[in-house]
Amino acid sequence: MKTYKIGVLPGDGIGPEVLDEGLKALETVVGGGDFECDFIEYPYSGEYYLKTGKLVTQDVIDEWSGLDAVLMGAIGHPDVEPGLVERSVILGLRFGLDLYINLRPIKLYAEEQCPLKDKKPEDIDMVVVRENTEGLYSQIGGILKKGTPDEVATVTGVYTRKGVERAIRYAFEIAGQRAEERGRTARVTMVDKANAIRPHDIWTRTFAEVGEEFTEIEQDHAYVDACTMWMVKNPEWYDVIVTTNLFGDIITDLGAMLQGGMGIAASGNIHPGKTSMFEPIHGSAPKYAGKNVASPLGAIMAVSMMLEYLGEKPAAKRVEDSVAQLLSSGAIPTATADSGLSTSQIGDMVVEGIGKG
Ligand code: IPM
Ligand code: MG
Repeated sequence: MKTYKIGVLPGDGIGPEVLDEGLKALETVVGGGDFECDFIEYPYSGEYYLKTGKLVTQDVIDEWSGLDAVLMGAIGHPDVEPGLVERSVILGLRFGLDLYINLRPIKLYAEEQCPLKDKKPEDIDMVVVRENTEGLYSQIGGILKKGTPDEVATVTGVYTRKGVERAIRYAFEIAGQRAEERGRTARVTMVDKANAIRPHDIWTRTFAEVGEEFTEIEQDHAYVDACTMWMVKNPEWYDVIVTTNLFGDIITDLGAMLQGGMGIAASGNIHPGKTSMFEPIHGSAPKYAGKNVASPLGAIMAVSMMLEYLGEKPAAKRVEDSVAQLLSSGAIPTATADSGLSTSQIGDMVVEGIGKG
């Protein structure tokens, strides 16, 4: 029997509540499978920082690199300087473990949950491959003469050939897999802003070069401003989108809305073959914390993505199918905090659905 070592980072706000439901779903599929999980819990969060002053250190990152995967709830505390803990924990994991892909599926399960008129589940089924270690998240830059009339703030967008190429290659590979699973032609859309930001031309050129190895896949391009427009107007056009770190951050919040809100969207921070991290894309939502009202579906779908990554496809599918069935039947009417169902009720329904599936 295979045993996976899973790091668990509940974090702040609604993080612990939603992750508990994710773990309940995970334990349910573990029960029926031929694998086990050992869980190691880590306290890093805004709350832990306020209590102890501790952030993630290199030793912690080294320890995480020995795990199979990390599951995260949410990080961010209103009483901590904006972004401090997020940079330490989330970006600490992404940069520290070189998790160069941020994989974000955008899939609509129930027509009623889409804010767009006349769009159906078959119209919204795409995945964004967000480069996850470079771009404007490089942390290169700073502020000079802060607080004076001469203040200067700079930030450097970093795009390496290696970083761009591995993201693009990954996008083509998963487009190929999706085409096989769905029996349709694959399309990869590369999204940049090379008209105004000329160094983005490295994306355009690398896409064309790597694309020569994938001639069976349709190759498409959009500037990011146009991409946001088309995602709303014709979401059915999109299959796989590959883009920079910041553009990926922005368009995946838009994507989450198309699939029913932040309460359902999940993501994988992946370094193929190495420790990878899975999380709902929503934040810690302090106003809902401790109230048992937040949707745990993002965390539950993050568990499904983790299982898929670990190679436990049937288990991943059992979790996803249960969520899909509850949404498409209307049993879970919305993936929002006012769904009328509590966090733990939704978790129980998903567990029950897994049992039936
Ligand atoms: C996300 C979040 C993070 C990001 C923040 C919390 C640093 O918005 O995962 O999309 O910008 O990547
Ligand atoms: Mg974001």
